[in-house]
Amino acid sequence: MKHLLKLADLSSEEIFGILNLADQLKYERKNNIEHKYLSGKKLGMIFTKSSTRTRVSFEVGMSELGGTSLFLSDRDIQLGRGEPIKDTVRVLSRYLDAIMIRTFKQSDVEDLAKYGSIPIINGLTDYCHPCQVLADLMTIREYKGSFKGLKLCFVGDGNNMANSLIVGGVKMGMEVAIACPDNYRPDADIVKWASENGKLTVTSDLKAAAADADVLYTDVWASMGQESEKAEREKVFKNYCVDADLLSVAKRDAMVMHCLPAHRGEEITDEVFEAHADEIFDEAENRLHAQKAVLVKLLK
Ligand code: CP
Ligand code: NVA
Repeated sequence: MKHLLKLADLSSEEIFGILNLADQLKYERKNNIEHKYLSGKKLGMIFTKSSTRTRVSFEVGMSELGGTSLFLSDRDIQLGRGEPIKDTVRVLSRYLDAIMIRTFKQSDVEDLAKYGSIPIINGLTDYCHPCQVLADLMTIREYKGSFKGLKLCFVGDGNNMANSLIVGGVKMGMEVAIACPDNYRPDADIVKWASENGKLTVTSDLKAAAADADVLYTDVWASMGQESEKAEREKVFKNYCVDADLLSVAKRDAMVMHCLPAHRGEEITDEVFEAHADEIFDEAENRLHAQKAVLVKLLK
């Protein structure tokens, strides 16, 4: 593995390798076992969108592994004033050991990998969110023991989260069901790939998608960059809510997951969120462990 640009680039074995290492790193951290596997390594973190979890978990993760990190907001570096990606990355490759980037266009992340000479990690684009889904898979395995026979249902926009959950879910052998409005379906190529390589349903029938699900997952109706569509989306997604009624058709021991930040009263009720807060915040914690595993795989 040279980069983490999208989950589709990883084999199932590579994903299992990351999850196993993440479990080990979580164990080492909990038991105060030193794990400075990246002593002296430097990670640059470019952000052109906001972040709480991704920024803090990468920064803390690098520090716990013995390395250092630099927060590079596009408001501060020349990238935000128009310096091309392909120049920026050729410069940064001379100073850093790896770059994590959160931005809009997937092609910008691919360009960093193309023109740079160090590992590139996708910390979210409009197209996908591989780091989040590695943490999600880790959490599902923690709670359920394995992926065997599990059904994962995502409720909401066919966005970056839906795209990565489909790829990650199918690669781990889970059945995946997406409940979304007709005009907000996940990426067509991903849907085609998943239909040929696993079990995927995309439907606007929420209860059919959630029936007998082991995991119910949701995300915001309007993602970062879609602020101007907020009012329109509130109308379209009105019924796309993980509430007690929807949960009642899932398995009795179903997990509820959310990548966060959450908008209570929109995609999830406060009642369901709080009843499943342990799962949701374990999921958030696992961002740290899963990303440390990615960093070790790429840099050690
Ligand atoms: N889930 C997630 O990526 O959170 P942040 O936007 O806070 O990084
Ligand atoms: N779909 C959301 C995920 C945030 C982690 C967004 O892109 O804003």
